[in-house]
Amino acid sequence: MTKESIIEQINFLRKEKNAIILAHYYQEAEIQDVADFVGDSLALAQWAAKTTADIIVLCGVHFMGETAKILSPGKRVFIPDLKAGCSLADSCPAPEFKKFIAEHPGHTVISYVNTTAAVKALTDIVVTSTNARQIVESLPQDEKIIFGPDKNLGDYINKLTGRNMLLWDGVCHVHAQFSLERILALKKEYPDALLLAHPECPKYLLEIADHVGSTSSILKYATNSAQKQFIVATEAGILHQMQKENPDKLFIPAPPEDATCACNECFYMKMNTLEKLYLCLKNEQPEIFVEEQVRVKAVKSIERMLEISERYGL
Ligand code: 13P
Ligand code: SF4
Repeated sequence: MTKESIIEQINFLRKEKNAIILAHYYQEAEIQDVADFVGDSLALAQWAAKTTADIIVLCGVHFMGETAKILSPGKRVFIPDLKAGCSLADSCPAPEFKKFIAEHPGHTVISYVNTTAAVKALTDIVVTSTNARQIVESLPQDEKIIFGPDKNLGDYINKLTGRNMLLWDGVCHVHAQFSLERILALKKEYPDALLLAHPECPKYLLEIADHVGSTSSILKYATNSAQKQFIVATEAGILHQMQKENPDKLFIPAPPEDATCACNECFYMKMNTLEKLYLCLKNEQPEIFVEEQVRVKAVKSIERMLEISERYGL
């Protein structure tokens, strides 16, 4: 099938089945272009909670599909490739996280959205990189907090808020492997370029960044800036929207340690393809299921996040 006929079929099937296609910024450009909505993790959850579609196709990774299913249990949720996982979510298995919580009683448990449904069920409030600061600040200054699983994001929020949250020792394999040396070389080559970094990046990068923020925040910052050149330290998929919204600006992907790659891509995010998206809509699989016992616990922590985010206009 040609790319054009795949897109034609996707358009036909989504209408026929009353399906909505949601895509994360890290997806392949052609998936972003065919999606009904492209956004960051918070926006995808907000869309999943409010859509009137019968079917949600979540072009992202497994935890994003789970979050959609937890929020909209009456809808059928599919992701193009069930194997699209997340190294950060994998770094925090629910039984070990449960033990960690038990070892530190009296703490409010905050979890990044990049976690399994089982971890969300152990959590008081879920956060994304867009709302983590506001959610932590909405709690009393002396509240004892466990923050998992991303230690870089947790450390960054501790610094911003003056807290001392207890951090789970997890990282995202993509954001952890940016090369400081190669980024400094790029800064020399493009002295006017601003460095934009996602808070999942290590401290040594966040300290030299001109702006730190979630994918949507990085996009907004670049669009509103008078500057014309940017080095972007997050998964390279975001460059598609940046370039689309700012055709006159130059976006340079920050390189990883591996000298053979110019940009840093999430192997899991890139498992989804346009063809798999078409097959997913056509065959109505692979489908996401969440055990009801887990879902009823997990939904509370996600709804708390959505309520606080709404209060802050996020
Ligand atoms: P955001 O799009 O919410 O910034 O998340 C980044 C990410 O790592 C998603 O997997
Ligand atoms: Fe997970 Fe990192 Fe991939 Fe995001 S970029 S899905 S945090 S592995």
